[in-house]
Amino acid sequence: MPARIALVSTRHLDTPDVDEELLLPLLPEAQIAYWDDPDTDWAAYELVILRSTWNYTEHLSEFLAWATRVSQVTRLVNPVEIVEWNTDKRYLADLAERGIPIVSTTFVAPGEEITPDAVAGHVVVKPSVGAGSKGAKLFDGQPEEARAHAAALHNDGATVMIQPYQKAVDEQGETALIFLGGRFSHAARKAAILSRDMSWSTGLYADEKVVPTEATPEELELAERIVAELPDLAYTRVDLLPSDNGPVVLELELTEPSLFLALHPQAPATAAAAFRALLV
Ligand SMILES: Nc1ncnc2c1ncn2[C@@H]1O[C@H](COP(=O)(O)OP(=O)(O)O)[C@@H](O)[C@H]1O
Ligand SMILES: [Mg+2]
Repeated sequence: MPARIALVSTRHLDTPDVDEELLLPLLPEAQIAYWDDPDTDWAAYELVILRSTWNYTEHLSEFLAWATRVSQVTRLVNPVEIVEWNTDKRYLADLAERGIPIVSTTFVAPGEEITPDAVAGHVVVKPSVGAGSKGAKLFDGQPEEARAHAAALHNDGATVMIQPYQKAVDEQGETALIFLGGRFSHAARKAAILSRDMSWSTGLYADEKVVPTEATPEELELAERIVAELPDLAYTRVDLLPSDNGPVVLELELTEPSLFLALHPQAPATAAAAFRALLV
């Protein structure tokens, strides 16, 4: 029987994605496909679920054009409008406008001025289109170095994000809350990344230390609030950092998040059921 579901990855992954390895045995109607394989007949699938397409950040317009084409011939998950909005972290400004607490962020487009205040102190400079910590760098009282990094990102055409370094991440880590089929499933704790030496990391993503965790009531409440603002989605990951004023949004992963399915005994079955429920 031909596969009805495509779990979409990239041809440029060194090792298979753990989530996909867990999902495949539970979803016999699914198979892996590659967004960057020009020979795939996407219309042959009833459902095309974005998963480990982690190289899209370097090919964003191509990726979005592909996602648009696919959504014209079959059902893309999450939907293309969500993908278009979520692949550029300028969406954080939209969340802030809706009263959601985010990590305080200054966005600087190429050609715009960077004020001395923005790069003073302990800051993170990163591209607005990014994943796997690529292009994210930490500066501590190094305004000239921070500017130079921003200039390099601008040179590549990126809009730059400058944020105060949320120091509490060094002790408490980052919390990812995973929702499957619209319901909270499980949480994961990711150790701080930028304060560790990552110079050896060469792949598509920084090597991450992720463990199961319990979300705090505040984290859960904030994540639920965000999910309530969004349309119904098959998967949502809300990444939060601790701050003096409670949890704040670092990013909202609606495109190709790792779902950390290995961290919770029920999570692979919950994800498989959420995906299968989308088959008509
Ligand atoms: N403002 C910040 N304060 C503390 N750590 C940060 C900040 N911004 C980014 N980081 C660290 O860098 C990592 C990658 O940044 P993130 O914004 O999540 O981009 P990506 O899309 O690459 O995952 C985070 O997991 C976190 O460890
Ligand atoms: Mg992240």
